[in-house]
Amino acid sequence: MSLSGRHILSIDSFDRTTLEQLLAVARVLEPVARRQFRCNVLDGAVLANLFFEASTRTRMSFHTAFSRLGGSVVDTTGFTFSSISKGESLADTARVIAGYADAIVLRHPEQGSVAHFAEHLHVPVINAGDGAGEHPSQALLDYYTISSEFTRLKKRIDGMNIAMVGDLKHGRTIHSLCKLLSLFNGIHFRFIAPPSLQMPADLLNLLRERGHQVAEYSSIADGLPGADVLYATRIQRERIEGGEQMEGYGENFRINAAAIRRFAEPDTIILHPLPRDSRDGAYDLAIDLDENPQLAIFRQADNGVTVRMALFAMVLDVHNGIESYFTPQRGYRPTRYSDRDADFYQLN
Ligand code: NCD
Repeated sequence: MSLSGRHILSIDSFDRTTLEQLLAVARVLEPVARRQFRCNVLDGAVLANLFFEASTRTRMSFHTAFSRLGGSVVDTTGFTFSSISKGESLADTARVIAGYADAIVLRHPEQGSVAHFAEHLHVPVINAGDGAGEHPSQALLDYYTISSEFTRLKKRIDGMNIAMVGDLKHGRTIHSLCKLLSLFNGIHFRFIAPPSLQMPADLLNLLRERGHQVAEYSSIADGLPGADVLYATRIQRERIEGGEQMEGYGENFRINAAAIRRFAEPDTIILHPLPRDSRDGAYDLAIDLDENPQLAIFRQADNGVTVRMALFAMVLDVHNGIESYFTPQRGYRPTRYSDRDADFYQLN
């Protein structure tokens, strides 16, 4: 499947060959993400980065990715500063912005809204999260992270065992990642959540139909042992009305150093799309694992830039021979890349 000129609304735009290709392009672009080289392949191109829902990583890494490929970015954040607050329809906004930009990234709180926005547009639209629907670029960077960690651990994605914990019902990153992993063979999915926050039935059916093993658990103690990957998620409070769905969710779902020591394997890698909710009573991924090299969450966040660069390169069809646009970083040169996790990979 070629991604050239396509909207990226769902992970359904990918097959295994396209995933492999994206991975290869991302590997080529890694030195650009690390600022060892500059790349100006998108010189003159403009990205419209539209975020109508809270975001730090996704918004900034899309922006950074486009900029590091030599393009420029115009953006708007929140409804308040957009003409939507004056009653403009999403369709009109879409038509107008398509006249300004070469690519559009959109995050919106309503499921299906990004597809609606993209409906009549020729300019490619990337879904950066539509309510509880999908978040395909996050799944791509999660896949890239798993693949990089597995290379180090000499493991394979086919046949792996992944435990997903938290708000599996509303977590769009989980939905997209499960669809992505369903393209592989014989994955063991373990879904750990109270019944009210478990995976949507249609996704469970899809995974079963594609021949994967699926099991639901209501405790970490039962679901975590034997997992190669633990993918923790935040409770999506903004999508939960009242408190009833939170019933049964508490300390017993908390991933912390003690739980990892007791129930995880010494080489289980721990992922989280972030942000983690660090407020009291949130029971999200604890900070007492921050020095544990099994915790890959900041390596995962760093990968967001590399993978989004690769996605732009493929959608805008400039990925073939992209190295010919690399030039040595002149003038300002960073002395370090990222933070401690880069030391872990000996990148500094
Ligand atoms: C996620 C999202 O927005 O769906 N964050 C992200 O994009 N990295 C997860 C979340 O908000 O919990």
